Amino acid sequence: MSSSNPTGTSTARATLPACDHRPAPYDGPARNEILALRREYLNPGILTYYQEPICIVEGHLQYLWDETGKRYLDAIAGIVTVSVGHCHPKITDRVREQVGRLVHTTTIYLHPNIVLFAKELAERMPAESDLKVSYFTNSGSEANELAVLMSRLHTGHHEVLALRNGYHGGSQTAMSLTAVGTWKYPVVTPGGVRHVAPGYCYRCPFGLSYPSCDLKCATSIEDVIRYETCGQVACFIAEPIQGVGGAVLPPPEYFKVVYDIVRRYGGLCIADEVQTGFGRTGEHYWGFEHFGVTPDIVVMAKGIGNGAPLGACTTRPSVAEHLKQRLHFNTFGGNPVSVLQGLATLEIIDEENIQQQARELGGYLNGRLLELQDKHPVIGQVRGLGLMLGVELVKNRQTKEPAAAETADVVERAKDRGLLLGKGGLYGNVIRIKPPMCITREDCDFMVDCLDTCFAEGGAVT
Ligand SMILES: Cc1ncc(COP(=O)(O)O)c(C=O)c1O
Repeated sequence: MSSSNPTGTSTARATLPACDHRPAPYDGPARNEILALRREYLNPGILTYYQEPICIVEGHLQYLWDETGKRYLDAIAGIVTVSVGHCHPKITDRVREQVGRLVHTTTIYLHPNIVLFAKELAERMPAESDLKVSYFTNSGSEANELAVLMSRLHTGHHEVLALRNGYHGGSQTAMSLTAVGTWKYPVVTPGGVRHVAPGYCYRCPFGLSYPSCDLKCATSIEDVIRYETCGQVACFIAEPIQGVGGAVLPPPEYFKVVYDIVRRYGGLCIADEVQTGFGRTGEHYWGFEHFGVTPDIVVMAKGIGNGAPLGACTTRPSVAEHLKQRLHFNTFGGNPVSVLQGLATLEIIDEENIQQQARELGGYLNGRLLELQDKHPVIGQVRGLGLMLGVELVKNRQTKEPAAAETADVVERAKDRGLLLGKGGLYGNVIRIKPPMCITREDCDFMVDCLDTCFAEGGAVT
């Protein structure tokens, strides 16, 4: 079904697919009251999306409801956290049972859930990799802190390489690793971090084109090591696809070249799989597998627990053992409830063919977004893998001037029509689409039709 918009261009009518779930009547404080309490009692640095923040009170699989009963398709999965669907009934049942039995012990006692989960994670790592032992945390930032600490202890080196346009968290070391200026504060963060060029072909840091560039982004890392470090590095950390940075997918050879260089200078390679892990990128379980490399440390969080506060740092026993030099402890890391949620999530990913779903529906969605690009010149690039997609908006395809205001406008309009999207990139001009991986083809059609309408309404169609 299609309709005409003010510009006279035809757009498909976007209707949310049907859903059987009925949210419980909401009887909590009114939205305005919550907003007022939040303004008074929460740190103002905690950001909200949207000019008029929405209040979400219930979730079921790919859908969320606000306090008025309005339904939304969650195309950003919390923030890339809900892997198999909000309140997935199988997870909810198991967690409910666990909460009635035991909520808290720490790792000073034995408990089955933590070891069973660690074993399952190890079994999902590449064969022969020996990526086997995990340290559980409550967040991705904490897991990244540990990854850097273990690299430094293992190698005896201090210098860390991270990518420009990368995001690794908000704690102090994680903020040092992060290189998107909007997420950094004017304070001194732990030193010893050098930022090197990402494989961001659409905005090549060297103004070159792939493949005639000879992978300058990757090879230039050697110069940074030679000029800016003592020639010995502890580690290189990168997201296989940059998430907060705007779904930036490097060329296929990028990580092979970089890993070789880093290892020649004595460093370990860390894959920050906080967004790319657990089948989201489709073809493979882990993002790094798309690039034919095996890291020395894998960092996970977000999708690992389908919404539980859970992170993990998995490495080889030979790397992990350096943590024994002193005492290390994390009160809530690996608690019986969070790791059970992680375990149940892994099982559902397998049982419900979630990875295959991410590949198939991601391919379909990508194709439909490319069709939209033909129609709307504001779309500079559609990119990503599986259900980790980004749509970069530009004012002009030649100059690639970022269309930040247009992006914010489309994201607002989509929300009004029942579609929750993410936003990212240094300029805030990338629409991020990373839904729970249980979405359907009808949901994908709704997303694209809704975007089509929003672009048209915003005057983006010429
Ligand atoms: C790639 C990546 N690493 C690390 C983090 C930090 O995770 P957390 O917010 O759980 O500390 C994030 C969060 O967005 C992330 O996207």
